[in-house]
Amino acid sequence: MENLLNNIIKLNKKYTNFGQVASYIPELKNANSEDLGICIIDKDNNIHYAGDYKKKFTIQSVSKTIILAMALMDNDWSYVFSKVGMEPSGDPFNSIMKLETDDTKKPCNPMINAGAIVTTSLIKGTTLKEKEERMLAFFRKIAKNDDIKINQAVYESEKLTGDRNRAMAYLLKNDGVINGDVEEILDLYFKQCSIEVDCVDLARIGLLFANYGIDIETGERVISENVSRMVKTFMVTCGMYDASGEFAIKVGIPAKSGVGGGIMASVPRKMGIGVYGPSLDKKGNSIAGIKILEDLSKQLELSIF
Ligand code: DON
Repeated sequence: MENLLNNIIKLNKKYTNFGQVASYIPELKNANSEDLGICIIDKDNNIHYAGDYKKKFTIQSVSKTIILAMALMDNDWSYVFSKVGMEPSGDPFNSIMKLETDDTKKPCNPMINAGAIVTTSLIKGTTLKEKEERMLAFFRKIAKNDDIKINQAVYESEKLTGDRNRAMAYLLKNDGVINGDVEEILDLYFKQCSIEVDCVDLARIGLLFANYGIDIETGERVISENVSRMVKTFMVTCGMYDASGEFAIKVGIPAKSGVGGGIMASVPRKMGIGVYGPSLDKKGNSIAGIKILEDLSKQLELSIF
């Protein structure tokens, strides 16, 4: 397996030259565009890795899967889905357009920024601090890594420049889709995006969703079967934004990307996969990361379809 992974990294490294690291969050510009790494953890807890799998990066939109799980654990599902839809948007991740044109005024799904701001607003806690602590505790638990923390520089960079998200959040408040203090909700959203992980963390979390919410080492049920299924389904239909259709055809694995360069993939009942490659394509997905997953899926016959 190590040979296979090393080869896949070697073969696809060239694609890192065809993309660019994210720059709209200034701090993300510091990433090395040539980095490429992968980690796989299978259902027997075997761990395999190659390339820059140990490099740390911010989780960005991959966090939307975990926050969705938390929102569904914290609230009635019918309440959650009265505030955010279940349909792919077909638009870029940061699009504001449908918030105005859709009759419901609610975001299409919890994987786009507007939808994730809604799920973040549904996290329980009496104070912002308590919500942040609950969130971090949950990330640490599902990644089985107590060292997970927020990258302060990325958080501050995003908070300072995140006016597009700010605009969407105020629109959502105006339309009664989110309640409470908009700046506090945004603060929690920026923090969740700035959580620092590596490929091993993403593979571990991907494995938990792949295993329908049961920790393979302890047998503990951490997330319900239904919530795990819902999260994976959103990953298939919306996880790669307006590239989700092509990704489903070429790779066929539930996956979620982030502009930090991470992709978390979850092969039901088989494995979790964490990929890192900060050079992004035009849609904000890791350009070489997608290629790696495409090769891996073909070689190991991982497509769920
Ligand atoms: O809100 C943002 O724009 C970023 N914190 C997250 C966006 C993101 O990761 C999109 N993914 N490819």
